[in-house]
Amino acid sequence: MAFHKISATINGELEEIMVPSNMTLLQMLRESLALTGTKNGCAAGECGACTVLLNGEPVNSCMVLAVECEGAEIITVEGLLQDEQLDPVQEAIIQSGGVQCGFCTPGVLISSRALLNRNPNPSEEEIREALVGNLCRCTGYTRIIDGVQKAARINAVVQAR
Ligand code: FES
Ligand code: FES
Repeated sequence: MAFHKISATINGELEEIMVPSNMTLLQMLRESLALTGTKNGCAAGECGACTVLLNGEPVNSCMVLAVECEGAEIITVEGLLQDEQLDPVQEAIIQSGGVQCGFCTPGVLISSRALLNRNPNPSEEEIREALVGNLCRCTGYTRIIDGVQKAARINAVVQAR
């Protein structure tokens, strides 16, 4: 098995990592960097539990090879924390009761953050569309959607100050 040295910025830190040719980004995050917030639900691109931001776009990290990430900027759920403060979308989804077993939550948070970055005031339909790749077996989605709407309102208040 060939190994490759890659450099990538992960949650704001430049990392240099040796990765085998067949290692996925998900495996690299969890096994090489101990960033276990990103979950492995299906390893087949179906559930969205492994969603991370790759150069600002949400991707299923189980479907991306680590070697493809040379020079990339990656944000995982751990990277949503800023100065020990939860991202507003984390606060809002917790407050709305959108977390039950929590397995889908890291992927839901990343997809929601990506949505709010490109559209600060999404409609319910736009939220549902953004989360279509994030399967949740527990919540029924309503509370998650409430949480994203609440996060959008918090963002609007913060920006209006
Ligand atoms: S673990 Fe990647 S989509 Fe399910
Ligand atoms: S909270 Fe359990 S899968 Fe979503």
